[in-house]
Amino acid sequence: MLNAKIIATGSYLPKKIVTNYDLEKTIDTTNEWIVERTGILKRHIVENELTSDISVKAAINALNNSDIDVLDIDMIIVATTTPDLTFPSTATIIQSKIGAKNAFAFDIQAVCSGFVYALSVANNFIKTGQASNILVIGADTLSKIVDWQDRNTCVLFGDGAGAVILSATDNKNEGILSSHLASDGDLVNILKTTGGVSLTKNTGYIEMSGKEVFKHAVEKMSDCVIKSLASAKLSIENIDLLIPHQANIRILNSVAKKLKLPLEKVIVTVQDHANTSAASIPLALDFALQNNKIKKNDIIVMEALGGGLTWGSVVVRW
Ligand code: ACO
Repeated sequence: MLNAKIIATGSYLPKKIVTNYDLEKTIDTTNEWIVERTGILKRHIVENELTSDISVKAAINALNNSDIDVLDIDMIIVATTTPDLTFPSTATIIQSKIGAKNAFAFDIQAVCSGFVYALSVANNFIKTGQASNILVIGADTLSKIVDWQDRNTCVLFGDGAGAVILSATDNKNEGILSSHLASDGDLVNILKTTGGVSLTKNTGYIEMSGKEVFKHAVEKMSDCVIKSLASAKLSIENIDLLIPHQANIRILNSVAKKLKLPLEKVIVTVQDHANTSAASIPLALDFALQNNKIKKNDIIVMEALGGGLTWGSVVVRW
């Protein structure tokens, strides 16, 4: 069986930046409260761009960072909770915009765990030989489903897109070594939207029990890191870099503490991006590469938790 290797990454953040000080002017909050509880300083927000538009920019960036042509892409998988349309998938819209004529394309929905789920699905398509060069995108415009009057949620999120290209390799020692996915639908109500196509014919807004989510996030993300490492016959000591979903600095610190992982080994971008849902890991991965934080053979673990609840992690040897 072949392995799936990340051969290139790309990212895109909308130009408009909204700082905590900007939010102080519209809701009853303070920069101090937001920084102390979340570590977030600012977020990028789309103005006239759609999820497919920001995805295309990240995808082209990734293609430019690779040596393959867009016509070599044989599959596109987009993790998003904020599709352009109810149907068809955002993946097919992106396929058309980038001219990936030889691909088949579909979306997956696992909210903030979406990228980890998509990577894991893509890995299996490569392992079974059904695809060889896969464009995996994590993109969200959560600003569209946030109630900007709800201080409990609106301060937490931002928009963005990240992309990776996964290619088949016969080198068993590189690429994705293992993944672990999980979900618990009994926890739907602690993080969800107030509406949806079937229920209300509109998208609704994000609604969340912050403390509950926090508790599950720390517990479940730590647990799935250990499980995916064990599948790869590795342990915490082998991690060179942890690239967590960027929800909240206190969650990141608590996971690192629970795993006894030094903070120098954790990529943190939440201060600048806020929580970009499915985009947060590929954005952080691209940031890590651009800042020379990854070298060949490094063991990299990505992990996330999102609505569902869904959670999961992927172990990669770079
Ligand atoms: N500014 C000022 N005050 C606020 C704000 C705000 N933006 N938001 C809430 N408050 C108030 C509340 O109204 C409450 O006031 P009260 O005591 O008068 O009722 C007070 O602050 C404390 O609220 P709590 O909800 O208890 O605050 P908590 O310490 O739990 O922090 C937070 C809230 C930051 C949301 C925290 O629970 C958290 O980080 N949870 C994780 C949630 C998360 O990251 N979700 C993202 C999606 S899931 C994921 O990606 C993993």
